[in-house]
Amino acid sequence: MSDKQHLVFTTLSRREVLMAGVAGAAAVMLSSAGVRAQPPATPPVSPKPASLPKRKLGTLEVTALGLGCMNFCHGYAPRTSKEDEIKLIRSAYDRGVTFFDTAINYGPFLSEEAVGEGVEPFRDKVIVTTKFGYGYDDAGKNVGLNSKPDYIRKMTEASLRRLKTDYIDLYYQHRVDPQVPIEDVAGVVKELIQAGKVRHFGLSEAGGATIRRAHVVQPVTAVQNEYSLWTRDPEHEVLPTCEELGIGFVPWSPLGSGFLTGAITPETTFDPKLDLRANRARFTPEARRANWLLIALLHRVGDRKQATAGQIALAWLLAKQPWIVPIPGTTNGKHLEENLGASKVELTATELKEIEDGFAAIKVQGARTTDALRKNHDIGADLGTSSKGGHGNSPLPRR
Ligand SMILES: NC(=O)c1ccc[n+]([C@@H]2O[C@H](COP(=O)([O-])OP(=O)(O)OC[C@H]3O[C@@H](n4cnc5c(N)ncnc54)[C@H](OP(=O)(O)O)[C@@H]3O)[C@@H](O)[C@H]2O)c1
Repeated sequence: MSDKQHLVFTTLSRREVLMAGVAGAAAVMLSSAGVRAQPPATPPVSPKPASLPKRKLGTLEVTALGLGCMNFCHGYAPRTSKEDEIKLIRSAYDRGVTFFDTAINYGPFLSEEAVGEGVEPFRDKVIVTTKFGYGYDDAGKNVGLNSKPDYIRKMTEASLRRLKTDYIDLYYQHRVDPQVPIEDVAGVVKELIQAGKVRHFGLSEAGGATIRRAHVVQPVTAVQNEYSLWTRDPEHEVLPTCEELGIGFVPWSPLGSGFLTGAITPETTFDPKLDLRANRARFTPEARRANWLLIALLHRVGDRKQATAGQIALAWLLAKQPWIVPIPGTTNGKHLEENLGASKVELTATELKEIEDGFAAIKVQGARTTDALRKNHDIGADLGTSSKGGHGNSPLPRR
């Protein structure tokens, strides 16, 4: 997008942006309902993609914003097709994005397939990340955590096949497995790195103690935990640990699962079968009404800068540390464009203070996730030093 186009976009009124969002969502719904005259042609890949500012996660250079590639097949509704996701990935590349996030359990497997096909024409120019750590039965059903070394080796081969590549740039453990010492997990990833199948090691929803123990065996390049204006848990120990050890941080759900864009009102309904927000305490109509104070705060700052609420939420993350790289997820090209516009929004120290002071005066209503999902989080990620319950000493013996 040229500067002029960007200016035009960021000068749209909030109503126009919302209208654009509605039109995009309608198009998505039409395509997911199969109302398409003909199958999409293979999207062309621009010979000269736009460029975005770069950042470093440890030693790995990536674009300041990545693309979360989960949403078309997992977590949210309405769902879109693999073809639409491939189109979105290629249009993100044309707009300068070279950092794509997926995992085996998105779909399961569908997101890895879409990313593999989507980036195939420019594989060597992008950073592809995926995650291991869940087990599957023969029918492809998720049967819980599994970071056993042999299983990781097997799943790596399958991920490489789906991603149509012979190396994974950044390979995260999706959730800490309390049955497997983190040293064993780091050891397998080290082996995979030595074999050239993986380039960098990452952890997701890990606490400080786990990060430290893993880092001794195989340096960790990035930690991917939930972090956004209304989910501040990593500030307790994970961000300081990352800073101390020179590890990058990738916030997931950086837009608060869409809430921080202001596009979700108390009246919005969620598909109870497909959309995780239908069961989240933070997304009940009452909670959304109470949490709307956050949107008012983001609009207050954004309106003065001709930026949307979502752009301010992302710019706030970008301003926190130069080694923080958000990966907003979307199925919608207009939203993608809006989100990337956040890389041009610079918040001053006064504006950052206004956001912090405003946030401090708001009590966010509703837990960030369900108790069932939280069971799989390394509690140190949220509450202070812990590695699955042991205050820095894993309940499993160190080797
Ligand atoms: N490591 C982990 O455990 C973990 C967990 C969850 C997610 N992730 C990764 O993190 C990525 C991002 O997280 P997320 O998708 O859960 O949350 P998110 O990025 O905070 O929000 C996604 C939601 O916001 C909406 N949205 C995005 N841009 C928008 C805009 N400009 N205006 C209005 N709505 C907008 C999307 O809908 P539309 O599709 O309509 O735009 C979607 O419903 C995922 O894709 C995945 O790769 C990792």
